[in-house]
Amino acid sequence: MAHINWIKEYSVGVELIDEQHRYFLTLLNELFDAIISLNTESKIGDIITRLAEYAVMHFATEEKYFDEFNYEFAEDHKRRHRDLLARVEGFQKAFDEGEVNIASEMIEFLEGWMIDHIMEVDKKYVRCFEEHGLQ
Ligand SMILES: [Fe+2]
Ligand SMILES: [Fe+2]
Repeated sequence: MAHINWIKEYSVGVELIDEQHRYFLTLLNELFDAIISLNTESKIGDIITRLAEYAVMHFATEEKYFDEFNYEFAEDHKRRHRDLLARVEGFQKAFDEGEVNIASEMIEFLEGWMIDHIMEVDKKYVRCFEEHGLQ
């Protein structure tokens, strides 16, 4: 678990999407800072809630374009989003039930998931988005 910095290799070439990915990483870093500075449980819980909400919003943005552009790998991609949201919900539930140490496990998992997902799954829609004039 560590701070994670945006590097240009993460870019999918669409400004709005890059911005959302960057903000998601910022939220993860915020959660990291809250944990190492031993912030209150409610502050950590708040960040977890914001992360979960942001993930929902971000996936909805991508999926809106999939539908609009008839993206060929939409179904598989949406399934991956759903699986992640279920996982996040699980973390959230565990945290709410008092497993506060789950927060660092959550960061570690989300950092890995997010980077892999951007590099291997999100990057596949770049050509389709470009062909539809999104930048
Ligand atoms: Fe995605
Ligand atoms: Fe994404």
